[in-house]
Amino acid sequence: MANKINTIGVLTSGGDAPGMNAAIRAVVRIALSKGMKVKGIQRGYSGLLNEEIIDMDAISVADIIQRGGTILYTARCEEMRTPEGQKKAADICKKHGIEGLVVIGGDGSFQGAQKLAHLGINTIGVPGTIDLDIACTDYTIGFDTAVNTAMEAIDKIRDTSTSHERCSVIEVMGRSAGYIALWCGIANGAEDILLPERWNGEEDKLINHIKETHAKGKKHHIVINAEGIGNSQALATKIEKETGMETRATILGHLQRGGSPTCKDRVYASLMGAYAVDLLAKGESNRVVAYANGKYVDYEIDEALAMKKDIDEYQYDVSKHLAR
Ligand code: ADP
Ligand code: F6P
Repeated sequence: MANKINTIGVLTSGGDAPGMNAAIRAVVRIALSKGMKVKGIQRGYSGLLNEEIIDMDAISVADIIQRGGTILYTARCEEMRTPEGQKKAADICKKHGIEGLVVIGGDGSFQGAQKLAHLGINTIGVPGTIDLDIACTDYTIGFDTAVNTAMEAIDKIRDTSTSHERCSVIEVMGRSAGYIALWCGIANGAEDILLPERWNGEEDKLINHIKETHAKGKKHHIVINAEGIGNSQALATKIEKETGMETRATILGHLQRGGSPTCKDRVYASLMGAYAVDLLAKGESNRVVAYANGKYVDYEIDEALAMKKDIDEYQYDVSKHLAR
């Protein structure tokens, strides 16, 4: 029988994502229901190292499930990447009686959690990122809201693009992952979708495709470009010069990270937060919560970080056939 955990901490780290608040709320309320105390650590690992630690009760997470962002704030923290920073973070957890820690974030944040687990703090990672780029899970908190936000914005750009018979290059987020681009590309009926995982720099092929579709009678042309490729303005300038079609670039940027979470993000985040506390209550550590093949599951962090994820080839192939 695992030693009973009396006090847990919860933090959000890396880029924020809509639904993180729902996960925090679930962690707090499920932990309280199991007789645990909960401490909220503000500003991720940076706040942990600065001891920005607050007591949380059921009321402290009231009225947040519908709010985007994270009430605990988030940050990136270089010091946590160093052995000294990690040791200091573990010592601070011990000083505050934090025996278990839920880390809501992406792969980078899980690496911090892994280091703390090796230093004696039971840690569980919950996947929170709009990028959907965590290999062990089919779902990450925030992706659903982000793609819906981006889809609505792209619909609006499409209206004006069609009215003016223009080409639009629209850049969506995704540091090195094309999931937002691919989903929006399909949902918005984009003529071209550029993914970091597949882009070979073939601008001439893209320009020929724009010329072909224009010649076939299409009055507008939407190119969804993933942030990982970038250079959207330069690409728009080149398209206009070489196709003669007036072209505008729009970078959607951080608006994709905000807003009230969708129903899916609220529910999945709530269940993942609850699952993380269940794992801590069972004495588990160094694990990541995931949603795979229709079930909530968990993996050892080391195993999860070693997994590789790629764009679904069938989905990508279909997207190309739809964009004719
Ligand atoms: P994400 O969690 O979304 O992948 P980052 O890669 O920016 O975001 O990582 C968030 C934070 O996690 C970093 O600022 C750092 O504090 C911590 N972190 C990242 N990589 C490591 C590492 N190798 N060891 C310890 N902590 C790390
Ligand atoms: O990881 C989420 C994400 O939104 C990426 O898509 C993007 O590249 C990055 O964060 C932007 O981070 P920042 O908030 O530091 O600009």
